Amino acid sequence: MNTPQCTPNRGLEARGITKIFQSRRGSATRALDGISVTAADGEFIAIVGPSGCGKSTLLHCIAGLIELDGGSLLLDGRKITGPGEERAVVFQDPSLLPWRTVRDNISFGMELRRKLDRETARERTEALIDLVGLRGFETHYPSELSGGMRQRVNLARALAPHPRILLMDEPFGALDAQTREAMQSELLTIWERDRKTVLFVTHDIEEAVYLADRVYVLSARPGRVQQIVDIDLKRPRPPEIKRDSAFTAIELNIWKLLQNQNAKAMNDEHAA
Ligand SMILES: Nc1ncnc2c1ncn2[C@@H]1O[C@H](COP(=O)(O)OP(=O)(O)O)[C@@H](O)[C@H]1O
Ligand SMILES: [Mg+2]
Repeated sequence: MNTPQCTPNRGLEARGITKIFQSRRGSATRALDGISVTAADGEFIAIVGPSGCGKSTLLHCIAGLIELDGGSLLLDGRKITGPGEERAVVFQDPSLLPWRTVRDNISFGMELRRKLDRETARERTEALIDLVGLRGFETHYPSELSGGMRQRVNLARALAPHPRILLMDEPFGALDAQTREAMQSELLTIWERDRKTVLFVTHDIEEAVYLADRVYVLSARPGRVQQIVDIDLKRPRPPEIKRDSAFTAIELNIWKLLQNQNAKAMNDEHAA
């Protein structure tokens, strides 16, 4: 374990991000309060924290989808604002186009960008279908797919423009336990193949420990970094690793940190 902060030369750096939501009635919610997260190239970072602590808000800020009220975002030491193709977002809800097949959902973004010639886009689409394990389902429509398969399409779509950074907001949160475990393993296999930088938000501690190089444990709202936990477990990680004593010890440690935060969040709610 270490205390918040280290600064990579290359990679993503969110520095002191603050976000305050103003309601129309004039009240304000401080969702994030000077939060800093760094991810070096190829690192897998997980972010856990109590419900409502600002995890999604943080990811939206890093994606450039909402404006910051304080702090800055840096990529390779250079300031970035707004969205960019080097950052792709995967939400919990896949929101696929229901009238398009798996193949056409995956190629849709590439068609919109029109930067690729048809043949390259076609090859890329086929490679992505294989990568996410959807061969055989390419002519299916979203309504004909399971939740896990829909999330695979979503992942393929996010990977299509070759982003450097994947921002994932509880992507497996709506899946049943077995599908969720399968998707975690597959995500690791894909990540080990081309080592994108991943920021993965989850409220599932086991998922965070299994996937990540480092876990940022956030405090109750307003979100701050409570602790950064290094996950020194060897890779590749087979699913059985979740039963190892080293694994469960890290899990317990993070669980205790979050217990304190949940208690604090409940007290704040009673006080409000
Ligand atoms: N668009 C918004 N307008 C107003 N308040 C918001 C908005 N988005 C999030 N919030 C508030 O900010 C806080 C953090 O929300 P969120 O980032 O969704 O938390 P988490 O993802 O950790 O559950 C919550 O109190 C939530 O109600
Ligand atoms: Mg959320």
